[in-house]
Amino acid sequence: MNCRIINFGVHVDSRGSLVSLEGNKNIPFEIKRVYYIYDAKTDMERGKHAHRELEQLIVCLNGSCVFVLDDGKVRESVELDSPNLGLYIGKNTWREIRDFSKDCILMVLANKYYDENEYIRDYNEFLGISLNNVGVQ
Ligand code: TYD
Repeated sequence: MNCRIINFGVHVDSRGSLVSLEGNKNIPFEIKRVYYIYDAKTDMERGKHAHRELEQLIVCLNGSCVFVLDDGKVRESVELDSPNLGLYIGKNTWREIRDFSKDCILMVLANKYYDENEYIRDYNEFLGISLNNVGVQ
């Protein structure tokens, strides 16, 4: 699975906590885009797609949610519930996001600008592509 949790260093002092994110340093790519999701409906799912080339780093700034990650062979779930953790998701990874807490705020860093043509939204197409990539990555 081309995904991993990154534990960010936190600058803690008597005033509170600060986390700094820097492209090609603690974020493993150059950051081209940032978007965020809030007010997600707690009974609805998001995601349900993969990306051909996009890499992303997701931080749950508040609340919690669950990512289901699938590389075509293995499926696993990760709960994000802390602003000092980042979930790196590499290309060709199917993701579903569910179990949003009411107060969940998700920040997503990406290495490319938004491009709808870059999405794989059909699970069977994704499986075909990931099968062809076996041994290449
Ligand atoms: P979508 O990628 O389907 O959301 P999710 O991955 O959370 O399921 O995007 C929802 C809508 O927002 C869709 O109409 C495309 C638009 N959008 C942008 O315009 N720019 C962006 O950077 C993103 C991620 C989405």
